[in-house]
Amino acid sequence: MSVLQTVDFDEIISIIKSASGLFHNEEAAENVTIKGRADFVTEVDLAVQKTICKRLAAKYPDIQFMGEEKDNSDIDFDKAVWILDPVDGTTNLIHHYQENCISLALYECHRVVAGFIYNPWHDELFFAKKNGGAFLNGEPIHVRECSDLADCLISVGTAPYSHERADFVFHQIKNVFLRVADIRRIGSAALELAYIACGRLDAYFEPNLKPWDFAAGMLIVAEAGGKVTDFEGNPITPEHPQDILASNDRIHREMIEVLNQ
Ligand code: IPD
Ligand code: CA
Ligand code: CA
Repeated sequence: MSVLQTVDFDEIISIIKSASGLFHNEEAAENVTIKGRADFVTEVDLAVQKTICKRLAAKYPDIQFMGEEKDNSDIDFDKAVWILDPVDGTTNLIHHYQENCISLALYECHRVVAGFIYNPWHDELFFAKKNGGAFLNGEPIHVRECSDLADCLISVGTAPYSHERADFVFHQIKNVFLRVADIRRIGSAALELAYIACGRLDAYFEPNLKPWDFAAGMLIVAEAGGKVTDFEGNPITPEHPQDILASNDRIHREMIEVLNQ
């Protein structure tokens, strides 16, 4: 039997929401360790991961657990796995900029079969189940039906940990900026994907995202009628890092052309 059939979605949502209480611990958010250039982890990231991992393991002992703040070298993608980003948007959390979230996906049979993204500051829970549609706080959501790039609002990622990519990244950003209504830099890949799904943004792109940044969001966008590929239009997988282009689908082909100019 598929593990998806054994999962109680309401319970997962309540586990995520209860762990998100930890986001409000300002002292923990200010306790920062530097993992790499512009790459931070706070006590909140560690505590959220520990709490969710423990509760998922107790309830679903047969599902593996992959999380940003642990060694994932033993993960076998032929078997079911939770993929967690305990805080997506840690830099925002440190700066009290309330665009950050918990992102959790369930990956089974080499497909994301469920995705959850929760922003505790706005109390917004984005959820999708494979072939079951996408929802924001229980209400169905859909991408914005805009096919004219000039009317589109596009979010950009800066690949903050890899300054050697800056010329490439900002060349792409400039080319996109010159064709669209305007651009945004939100600083949480998972929320940027969720915002495409509910029509706040028309597209988002960033090179070299990690599996936990986009696993839940790629399903939520697809279930809301959008499209997620790499910069060449190839399908993506959360089994390894990927360049991500997500859109409302209508502008996808044109975005690929602009990104490859
Ligand atoms: C980061 C955020 C950021 C993106 C980085 C991600 P983190 O995740 O999503 O917007 O530019 O590539 O790594 O480190 O806050 O979990
Ligand atoms: Ca992240
Ligand atoms: Ca993170």
